[in-house]
Amino acid sequence: MVNQDKSSDSKTGKSSIQIIDEGHSKLSEIHNRVKSFAQNGASKNDLTEIFFALSYFFEDHLIKEELYLKSKGYPTLEEHKASHADFIKGIEHLKDSYAKDVECSLNELDTFIGEWLKNHNLKYNKEVVDFLNQKK
Ligand SMILES: [Fe+2]
Repeated sequence: MVNQDKSSDSKTGKSSIQIIDEGHSKLSEIHNRVKSFAQNGASKNDLTEIFFALSYFFEDHLIKEELYLKSKGYPTLEEHKASHADFIKGIEHLKDSYAKDVECSLNELDTFIGEWLKNHNLKYNKEVVDFLNQKK
C-alpha cells in the first residue's frame, strides 16, 4: 500500500516525483500568465508568446515525461499519452482561431488549461505517482 503522504501533498499539490512536479509548475506558470492577460488585456503578440510557450511545453515536458514513463515500464502509458494528445489537439485548435479575437481566445485558453490541468492531475498524474512510489 502506498503511503498517502508520499502520493501528494494536499497543501502544495507537490507529488514528490520531480518530473511530474516540474511539468505541473511549468504549465501552472503559463496558466497564470494567461489569467493575468485575460484580466488585464493583451496584444496579439502576447498571445503568440503564450502559444510559443505551450508548444515548448509539449516538446520539453510532455514528450520527455512519456519517454521517462516508457523507460520505467509504466503499464497504462497509452492512456496517459492520449491525455497529453488531447491537450495538444485542444491547444492547436485554439491556436488556429486566435487571430480573430484575442480576448475570447484568452478566456478559452484559461478554461481549457485549467480543466485539463485539474483532470490530468487528479487522474493521470496520481496514477503515475502511485506507480512510481511503489517502485521506490
Ligand atoms: Fe502527464
